[in-house]
Amino acid sequence: MFARRAGWDLTANAYSERVAARRRTGLPVVDLTESNPTRCGIRASGAALARALEALAGNVDCLRYEPDPRGAIAAREAIARYHVEQGARLDAASVVLTSGTSEGYAHLFRLLADPGERVLVPEPSYPLFDLLAGLESVEVAPYPLRWRAGRWRIDLEALESAAASGARALLVVHPNNPTGSLASAEEISAVRALCRDRGLALVSDEVFAAFRNGSRAGLAPTTWLPSAEEAESAPLGFVLSGASKLLALPQLKAAWVAVGGPERLRDEALARLEVIADSFLSVSGLVQHALPGLLADRAAIVAEVSERVAASEAALANVLGQSPHAEILPREGGWSAIVRLRGEPPPDEDALVEALLDGPGVVVHPGWLFDLAPIDDDGHSVAHLVISLLAPPREIERGAGGILAMLTGGNSGTCA
Ligand SMILES: Cc1ncc(COP(=O)(O)O)c(C=O)c1O
Repeated sequence: MFARRAGWDLTANAYSERVAARRRTGLPVVDLTESNPTRCGIRASGAALARALEALAGNVDCLRYEPDPRGAIAAREAIARYHVEQGARLDAASVVLTSGTSEGYAHLFRLLADPGERVLVPEPSYPLFDLLAGLESVEVAPYPLRWRAGRWRIDLEALESAAASGARALLVVHPNNPTGSLASAEEISAVRALCRDRGLALVSDEVFAAFRNGSRAGLAPTTWLPSAEEAESAPLGFVLSGASKLLALPQLKAAWVAVGGPERLRDEALARLEVIADSFLSVSGLVQHALPGLLADRAAIVAEVSERVAASEAALANVLGQSPHAEILPREGGWSAIVRLRGEPPPDEDALVEALLDGPGVVVHPGWLFDLAPIDDDGHSVAHLVISLLAPPREIERGAGGILAMLTGGNSGTCA
């Protein structure tokens, strides 16, 4: 009856069931996976939205339906200004609105790959690639990011050999989720050269680009979109971004694809992308009219979210710094922390995550969910926990206390 692409195993995830069961008992739950800004007490985004709704009420443009397949011009101009501030060459004509980054991915897979063709995806990274590509009958092939000498690097050799087996596009996430890593200027130019040589399109997910971790982010470029000088020698490139992270407003369902690269190829891509977008016209006109005002308010939102992430990271370090078995990997950007755990015998991620839930009621993501390899750069076995730094610092402190107790007490039976 159903297509193979919809042939998922729909049995409920055992861990989510366990979390739900714990919540039903009324026992405390400290959720360190909470990354929905509307549940994390971010005030600036709510205030900006209230202003935008008030302005919409008096905006007569909202009374008309005159869809532009790429999106309302005022919204696209505001988006282009944001990317130009980051150093890219971009004009409003090179932006296409979507109703979420996931829809942006779907449009790009439709544009770039036929059923059965491959796209290269980073590993560890965002766990939705398999599903999103699978829905378009596109295959994913991973290329590794490796933790070496204190930072995550693209394994260029492995990437070359993954590309050699044939692919249509190469995906990067910048900063990557959950590693928080940014590609260096050297990595970007090596990857661009590979894409040009092999005729691959380059897709960069930059939903977290505004959230850089000060000096740790260093000189890493903010965007993979080429500057005016770089455009003609760059490969065809697409950047995904949107309101769910940049404005901490996931309920807006507003995102976009920005297109860069050599002019002729870019314009051809845009003309085809426009046909795809025109087939759906998915972004609400009201949301499109609200976007310029909301983007004008983004500095306060980015500042508040960045403060929250920094405070939560400090709280986590304060508590877990007391254990010789825990290390928080340095973060160059984004909203996640990776806690690396060692022990003798080496900790078992699933056993630890379950023990944290059943004991102190702490909910965390196991590293395997993001394909974090259970091994460090010296070949030692390790476990990883992934924690959302959008969770309030008080919650982080409580949850980290539970993790610390587990590590020092060894009561998961898995940690020294
Ligand atoms: C790397 C990355 N891209 C995209 C998204 C989702 O974006 P959207 O809400 O616009 O679909 C997420 C959500 O966590 C993400 O981590």
